[in-house]
Amino acid sequence: SKKPVRVAVTGAAGQIGYALLFRIASGEMLGKDQPVILQLLEIPDEKAQKALKGVMMELDDCAFPLLAGMEAHSDPMTAFKDTDYALLVGSRPRGPGMERAELLAINGAIFTAQGKALNAVASRNVKVLVVGNPANTNAYIAMKSAPDLPARNFTAMLRLDHNRALSQLAAKTGQPVASIKNLAVWGNHSPTMYADYRFATIDGASVKDMFNDHAWNKDVFLPTVGKRGAAIIEARGLSSAASAANAAIDHMRDWALGTGGAWVTMGVPSNGAYGIPKEVMFGYPVTCSGGDYQIVEGLPIDAFSQECINKTLAELQGEQDGVRHLL
Ligand code: NAI
Repeated sequence: SKKPVRVAVTGAAGQIGYALLFRIASGEMLGKDQPVILQLLEIPDEKAQKALKGVMMELDDCAFPLLAGMEAHSDPMTAFKDTDYALLVGSRPRGPGMERAELLAINGAIFTAQGKALNAVASRNVKVLVVGNPANTNAYIAMKSAPDLPARNFTAMLRLDHNRALSQLAAKTGQPVASIKNLAVWGNHSPTMYADYRFATIDGASVKDMFNDHAWNKDVFLPTVGKRGAAIIEARGLSSAASAANAAIDHMRDWALGTGGAWVTMGVPSNGAYGIPKEVMFGYPVTCSGGDYQIVEGLPIDAFSQECINKTLAELQGEQDGVRHLL
């Protein structure tokens, strides 16, 4: 049987953590033959640590055959020791009335410390997924704080946007989600993301040709996907958690186990593709194989798409400029 791998999860006592850990431990992320050791990080606060203990009691009570070990931590320097996978979920999202500079400063402190800790103690091949918002910029901060690790191993979660877009397209076309291929989401995990179905196919036929409806694209599809997070908060009184955890599982599973040629969306440091400046943590269509990802390059970008890409890039560069002094 396989040797266990180490999976670190931050914000482990939060609502995404509660929807995520049980699925990692059951083998949904890394395969039903891959034992895992969970290295769970929460803030030192007594209530948070106590809540984490409660989650661990429940994990125990599941008697997962693949759960080979479990640890609670309050310091990233111990939580990330030798970790093979790190899911950085805990962060400080923007609260009501919170200034942007304040948000960036708080997360700057969290993600510089966590990037440095990964740099110091994690596996040299650690795969990092940042879920905590602002996800792209937090991933950028962690990457810049870990100069001894490969920059390409730092990624941000755009998969929830990707899955939301898939589900809207399935509803629009009346076709099953699983039949839709080659969807792309560009840019920032924010309402400026650009979900792009120009290349999407269903059973080999072009989705765009099925309904040539630019007004739907611009006025319904993009706003629905972009504002979905706010719509969930409005309906549920809490932000998306199970769907976010599901997207994190999808992202890591595909990165680790491959996509068999299919496109998925990952936020990754730009290699310059599509004119995005190098290192900007940008949502791109990628394919995964052999534990690595490749950006899908050479796609034609029309005027409307370029406009959308420019807008989300400008937002990301603004965020990046706002944290440069922290790095
Ligand atoms: P939550 O507030 O329920 O849980 C967050 C947990 O993180 C808390 O238990 C908190 O104590 C912990 N935490 C905070 N700072 C920490 C640190 N420095 N180290 C370790 N733990 C820390 O929040 P929830 O709903 O679980 O969401 C977590 C994050 O994910 C938020 O930033 C949210 O905006 C983001 N998110 C991102 C999505 C995406 O698509 N990228 C989708 C949905 C949420």
